[in-house]
Amino acid sequence: MATKYIPEPFRIKMVETIKMLSKEERVQKIKAANYNLFNLKSDDVYIDLLTDSGTNAMSAHQWAGLMVGDEAYAGGKSYFRVIETAQDLFGYTYIQPVHQGRAAEKVLFPLLLDKGKIALSNMFFDTTRAHVELTGAKALDLVTPEALTPSVPYPFKGNMNTERLEKTILELGKEKIGVVVMTITNNSAGGQPVSIANMAETAAICQKFKIPLCIDGARFSENAYFIKKREPGYQQASIKDITKKFYSFADMFIMSAKKDAIVNIGGLIGIKNNETLIQQVKSNTINYEGFITYGGLAGRDLEAMAIGLTEVVDEDYLTYRIGQIAYLANKLDEAGIAYQTPPGGHGLFIDTSSLFPHIPYNQFPAHTLAVELYIEAGIRGCDIGSFMLGNDPETGKQRKAEFEFMRLAIPRRVYTQAHLDVVAEALADIKKRASSIKGFQITWEPAVLRHFQAKLKRIDE
Ligand code: F0G
Repeated sequence: MATKYIPEPFRIKMVETIKMLSKEERVQKIKAANYNLFNLKSDDVYIDLLTDSGTNAMSAHQWAGLMVGDEAYAGGKSYFRVIETAQDLFGYTYIQPVHQGRAAEKVLFPLLLDKGKIALSNMFFDTTRAHVELTGAKALDLVTPEALTPSVPYPFKGNMNTERLEKTILELGKEKIGVVVMTITNNSAGGQPVSIANMAETAAICQKFKIPLCIDGARFSENAYFIKKREPGYQQASIKDITKKFYSFADMFIMSAKKDAIVNIGGLIGIKNNETLIQQVKSNTINYEGFITYGGLAGRDLEAMAIGLTEVVDEDYLTYRIGQIAYLANKLDEAGIAYQTPPGGHGLFIDTSSLFPHIPYNQFPAHTLAVELYIEAGIRGCDIGSFMLGNDPETGKQRKAEFEFMRLAIPRRVYTQAHLDVVAEALADIKKRASSIKGFQITWEPAVLRHFQAKLKRIDE
């Protein structure tokens, strides 16, 4: 049965013109970008699904909020609005704004980790892994095994493998584990949710071994929506209640507000009842980000963030948002294109190992599809696979990712049904010639987070 598109619970009063270049131009632009989609100009992209981060459309209310942003260096009104909103939502005593998610990681992780330590997670995202490794520590992913088979649906593919978590702590020694990070939704596993039951089990293990538990909550409301729909006992609960309950299990959180605060820039740190850590977070924020009452942001950004945090828990918005991804997924079912099932919260993750069985992980099948999709229809997606994972910091060898996903991340409140139809049609056309498409090799790369800057060429070039 076809999945119906859920109509937008908003109307549009401001537009941005986009256009598609000719195929010859697209071929030339991506070559000139050294086959790295981060090097393209956004003007040369027709539908930009590179990320849902900072690419959101703000509401009229948020735009109006920019005008009343308090730009005081210390103690501004907009700061207090963010603090009150976030305290109410997450239930944490200390809230620290920072300029984006990785700033939160940079401030917090060195306080928990250093050389010889290990950080465990259901799955780190690229910057969280990088900031663990920048402290000298190691990052280990322990996602639930159900996540590893994209074709078989499971309601909570974002979950932590709690059995492995406990075993790993016992094997490595509890004093070696600096932090356990629960990423919601689990971005790298396909925007997949974590259940409250799994969070509770993880918290019990962390408490038993006295290891701090940190939520990476970039997409907390999408996670809460899935809990409401899928986890027994939460059907009557509000998104806010589910969020507060979920957060009650952790000791701290980091958050990129560029996702579920529906803004273009911003981040948060939250700490529950740990005065020493709070003081250290304040010091690091002042050193790296700016005074604690603005944390690297303008007062107007804080104002927009406070408003976005209240809009993102609205269920009509979430039904539309999650429905949009399910609609696109259904179109791909019709074309026989495999993706991580069920569809995720912020995007659809195409399973390129099954689309390109002839391209090995070290020729980057997901990156190959991203390039092809740009050439086909000017659409920009990105690799969430071995190309993004990069090399082992100790051996320098290419790591093999658990998945080779090409992510189509959907910006919030930006694209319409017709745009999604264009994406599905382009992918269906690519599928017809999939076996003739060749993979890539890297010709230059930097040491850390290489996918943002690497240069590539086709293997037969
Ligand atoms: N944690 C998660 C789960 C993320 O998805 C991201 C960013 C970050 C942390 C870092 O936040 O970008 O504000 O510094 N993810 C973006 C993405 C970039 O495209 O998924 P940031």
